[in-house]
Amino acid sequence: MTPVVQLDGVGHRFGSAANGVAAVSDLDLAVRRGTFTTLLGPSGCGKTTTLRMIAGFIRPTSGRILLEGTDATDTPPERRNIGMVFQSYALFPHMTLTDNVGFGLRARRRPAAEVRKRAGEALELVGLSHAADRKPGELSGGQQQRVALARAVAIEPSVLLLDEPLSNLDARLRVQMRQELLRVQRETGLTAILVTHDQDEALQLSDTMVILNGGRLEQQGDPRTVFPAPANRFVAQFLGYDNFPEVPGFGPVTIRPEHVRLTAAVTGEEAATDSVELAGTVADVTYQGSHCLIGVDTAGGRLNCVHPGDDFRPGEAVRILLPRHRLVELADAHTPAGAR
Ligand SMILES: Nc1ncnc2c1ncn2[C@@H]1O[C@H](COP(=O)(O)OP(=O)(O)OP(=O)(O)O)[C@@H](O)[C@H]1O
Ligand SMILES: [Mg+2]
Repeated sequence: MTPVVQLDGVGHRFGSAANGVAAVSDLDLAVRRGTFTTLLGPSGCGKTTTLRMIAGFIRPTSGRILLEGTDATDTPPERRNIGMVFQSYALFPHMTLTDNVGFGLRARRRPAAEVRKRAGEALELVGLSHAADRKPGELSGGQQQRVALARAVAIEPSVLLLDEPLSNLDARLRVQMRQELLRVQRETGLTAILVTHDQDEALQLSDTMVILNGGRLEQQGDPRTVFPAPANRFVAQFLGYDNFPEVPGFGPVTIRPEHVRLTAAVTGEEAATDSVELAGTVADVTYQGSHCLIGVDTAGGRLNCVHPGDDFRPGEAVRILLPRHRLVELADAHTPAGAR
C-alpha cells in the first residue's frame, strides 16, 4: 500500500551550507494509512522542523517528500490537505466554536450548509456540541484543545499533524486527552503524526514511534518492539533504562532496574546459570512503600535496582543477579550525532 506520507532522505539546514544548523538530516520515513506515528526526542532534535516540512511550511534542503505516492516537495501548504494542531490552540477568539471549526472548510469555499454540518459533526466527535455557540475564551484549556482538534479534523485531512498538542495541559488532563485523541483517530481512521518529547505519550499512542536525536533517526518501530529492545544507549536512556553495567563476556548492555535481582552475599550458595552474577555494595536505599530503589556499586559501575523488600542497608555486600534474558545488548555504544 502506498504510504500516505513518505520522506526520502529528507534534510533541512537552517542558515548557509557552511555556517548553519542541520536541524534534520537524511530522514527516511513511511507512514501507512490510518496509523498513529509519533516523533519522539529531546528538545532541538528536529521534531517540529520535520512536521513543518511535511506540512509544507519549510522546504527540505535535501531529499523528497511524497504525499499519497506523489512528489509534493514543492507543493504549497494550502494544496496539501493537511490538518494541524499546535501546542498553542490558535483559535479565533471572536468566533463561535462552530465558526472556528468551520474555518478551514470556508477557506476551501465549501457551501455554507456543508460547513455547518461538518463543523457540527466535528464538535460532536470531541464532545462539545453543547458549546457550539460559545467563544473559545469561555472554555477550559482542555476544551480549547478539543476545538483545535475538531477544526483540524473537519477538513477531512489526508494526514493530521499534531505538534505537542497536550503539553500545555496539566498532568491529569493530559492523560485524559491522550485517550481522547486516540479515540478520535481510531473513530475517524485518520492518519496522524504527533510530535512529543514524552515517552509515555509515545508508548501509549503509537503504532510506530520514531526516535530522533540531533536531527537523525535513532530507531523506529512499534512500541512493543522498540521498548524491550532499544538499539543503542541513546534510545535506551530516552526510554528510561538507566543501567549500563560492564558485564564480563558481554559488549554494551542495558537492563531495567526492575529486572535486577539482589540477594544477600552469602558464601557457598550456588550461582544461577540463567543469570549473570556480579558482586556489589549497597550505596543508597530509597524507601518507596511497595518497594525500595537501591543503588549498588559494582566493579563495572553503579546499578539501580527496584527491590521488593526493605531488607538492605547502605554498606552491605550483595550478590547481583542479572537474568540473561533481561540483558539487552546494545548495537553500539552511542556515538554523538555530530560525530557521525
Ligand atoms: N528558524 C530557525 N532558524 C534557525 N535554526 C532553527 C530554526 N528553527 C529551529 N532551528 C534549530 O533547528 C533545530 C531543530 O529545531 P526543532 O524546532 O525542529 O526542534 P524540536 O525537536 O521541535 O524541539 P522542541 O522539543 O524544543 O520543540 C534546533 O537546533 C533549533 O535551534
Ligand atoms: Mg518543537
